[in-house]
Amino acid sequence: MSKNYKIAVLSGDGIGPEVIEQALKVLKSVGNKFNFSFEFTNALIGAIAIDKTGNPLPDETIEICKASDAVLLGAVGHPRFDNDPSAKVRPEQGLLKIRKTLGLYANLRPIYTFSLLDDISPLKNHLLQNVDFLVYRELTGGIYFGEKGYTHEGTVAYDNCSYSVEEITRIAEKAFKSAQSRKKKLTLVDKANVLETSRLWRATVKKIAEKYPDVTLDFMFVDAASMKIVQTPSYFDVVLTENLFGDILTDEASVITGSIGMLPSASIGDKYALFEPIHGSYPQAAGKNIANPYGTILSTAMLLDHIGEFEAAKAVRNAVNTSLDKGYVTEDISKVNPKSTTEVGDFVASLI
Ligand code: IPM
Ligand code: MG
Repeated sequence: MSKNYKIAVLSGDGIGPEVIEQALKVLKSVGNKFNFSFEFTNALIGAIAIDKTGNPLPDETIEICKASDAVLLGAVGHPRFDNDPSAKVRPEQGLLKIRKTLGLYANLRPIYTFSLLDDISPLKNHLLQNVDFLVYRELTGGIYFGEKGYTHEGTVAYDNCSYSVEEITRIAEKAFKSAQSRKKKLTLVDKANVLETSRLWRATVKKIAEKYPDVTLDFMFVDAASMKIVQTPSYFDVVLTENLFGDILTDEASVITGSIGMLPSASIGDKYALFEPIHGSYPQAAGKNIANPYGTILSTAMLLDHIGEFEAAKAVRNAVNTSLDKGYVTEDISKVNPKSTTEVGDFVASLI
C-alpha cells in the first residue's frame, strides 16, 4: 500500500496563502510521481487567527499539528501590529508559541547561492563561489523566552537570557551529526568574551566535540561572524548559534542569495517538525500574485527529506533548478518579463 502523509498547512498572513498554494501543487505532483499521497489539513496562525478567534495560535491548530507527520507554514505578521507597542496580542506570539509547544528547538537555515542570481546579489561575484552553509539556530530558549518585564514603575525593562547544558547539548548533537555528512566543519558563534551563557555554550560544545573527532570545531564571536558572512561567506560549513544571534545572522546571510524569497528552513524537535520559507509575510505584495514561491517550494524539499522521501526531495530541487534555468522568476529577481507566483508554481509542478 502506498504511504499517505498527514501535513498540517498553516498558510498564515500576507503572501503566506499564495506561496503555500504553489508548494501544495508541487507536493501533489511529487506524490503522484513517487507513488505516495498527502492529506492536507488547514489550520490558523498569526493575524488571521487573531481576526477569526482572538488567539494567534488556537488550541485546535496545535492539535492538528500534533496529529500530523509535518507542518508546512507560510508566513506570520501584519503591519497593523508592528508599530503598536500597546498591542496585547500579536501575530508573532503564535510563531513563538508553536515553536515552544511543539519543542522545535533546532532551526535549520541553509544558505546557498544560485549562480543565475549572482548578478543581483549585493556581494561581488567571486565571493559567491562555493557558498554553501547551514545555520543551526537554537529556537526555543535564550532571550526570546526568558523572564521579561518592567521595574521602577515602568522606567526600566529587562529580558533575561539563560541556557541549560541540556538545551545546548541537544542542538549541538544535531549540528555535529550534520557536519559529519557535509564538509566536517562546525563554527560555534557566540559572545563568550562578554556573556556567561556563551561561555556555557563553549564549554558544553567543546566537550561534545570529543565524540566527533572527524569534525573540526572553531569558535567565532558574533560581531566577527557578521563581518565574515559578507567578506568570506564560503568560509562556513555548519554554524551553530543561540536564538537571537541566529535570528540576526540568518537575515544577513539570506541576502547573499540575491533574494530572501529563495530560501527555505526547517524547525525540528524530538517529535515534531515544521517547514517554512525564511521570508516574512510581505504584506505589500499580498494578493498581487507577485511573491516568490521558491523559498516555500524548497521548504517542501526539506520536508520530504525529513519524512524519508529522499528521491522526491531531489526531484523538487532539480525541478527548481530547471525552472530557474528557464527563466521562471518573480519580479523580486527580474523586472524583465517576470513570472507570476502561480506561473512559477505551475511550472515547477509540471516539471516534476
Ligand atoms: C524569524 C522571525 C521571528 C524570530 C519573529 C517574526 C518572531 O524573525 O523566524 O526569524 O525572530 O524568530
Ligand atoms: Mg528573523
